[in-house]
Amino acid sequence: MKVKPMQLVNGIPQLGYGTWARTGDEGVEAISQALEIGYRHLDTAQPYGTEESVGRAILQSGLPRSDVFVTTKVAEGNLSRSAFLPSVRKSLDTLQVGAVDLLLIHWPSANDAVPFDHYVEALGEAKSLGYTRLIGVSNFTKAMIDRAQEILGPGELATNQVEVHPFLQNKNLRNHCEAAGIAVTAYMPLAKGKVADDPVIAAVATRIGCEPAQVSLAFLLAEGLIVIPASGNRDRMKTNFLSTEIQLSPSDITQIRGCERGGRMIKPTATHWDA
Ligand SMILES: NC(=O)c1ccc[n+]([C@@H]2O[C@H](COP(=O)([O-])OP(=O)(O)OC[C@H]3O[C@@H](n4cnc5c(N)ncnc54)[C@H](OP(=O)(O)O)[C@@H]3O)[C@@H](O)[C@H]2O)c1
Repeated sequence: MKVKPMQLVNGIPQLGYGTWARTGDEGVEAISQALEIGYRHLDTAQPYGTEESVGRAILQSGLPRSDVFVTTKVAEGNLSRSAFLPSVRKSLDTLQVGAVDLLLIHWPSANDAVPFDHYVEALGEAKSLGYTRLIGVSNFTKAMIDRAQEILGPGELATNQVEVHPFLQNKNLRNHCEAAGIAVTAYMPLAKGKVADDPVIAAVATRIGCEPAQVSLAFLLAEGLIVIPASGNRDRMKTNFLSTEIQLSPSDITQIRGCERGGRMIKPTATHWDA
């Protein structure tokens, strides 16, 4: 299956560029290169410190605002009722945009320090106020998805952004989201570059004549996921962008499904993930 970079899943371009670590002038340069290559979906977050470089790169590109899909995420420290909406207004200022395309809750509040309902309601309010076109969540479990849907109503959450790559395919959570009409966005889709060292993925890449990173991304795209790979290197940004051209066979897909090993990289010892 070939995928167009701008192919939409629940209104979200299926291939995006992750901007974590792309701060300051170097960040502007990297994000500008991503836009030149053709990326039209940028993933930032309040704690990344990259909202400013995203905003500057979009302005410098001369692209119409409507051509670039911008996601930001509300930091865990801004989830209280008093902090949530002011933090979103600050993000819009820093990004130099009137509204973002997608606003996510970055992480649920640890130990319910802020009551769950407070920040989920604030997320809905941010949409009603026109601060964002779409809303979603990140690092939410199945139980949290269900409760958020009860609060916001069905069809409101566009995505749940979670760790997914060949070594952690997160199938239970994905099935749950899919049944609820929520797209899954795969963060760390290259397992931080580690997919390049895997013999199964390398063998598929050799057979096709492409890079292992492209095999990982093509696999996730073929599974219907949104992917947001990161790179600070122009050649690798381009390689990743071109993953939409890679066609995997059913046998390739079966082999890569077999790479699952519960290989969680973010908070691997946390016990709440499957709840
Ligand atoms: N919601 C959340 O809680 C959350 C958590 C983590 C990440 N994210 C988002 O997901 C994005 C991606 O995640 P990530 O940056 O952690 O991991 P990633 O995209 O899986 O991997 C990035 C790493 O892979 C390397 N790489 C990139 N392209 C490559 C290629 N073609 N071949 C070999 N190595 C390659 C990069 O090195 P070079 O830079 O040297 O190319 C970098 O070290 C982030 O930028 C962020 O937007 C969200």
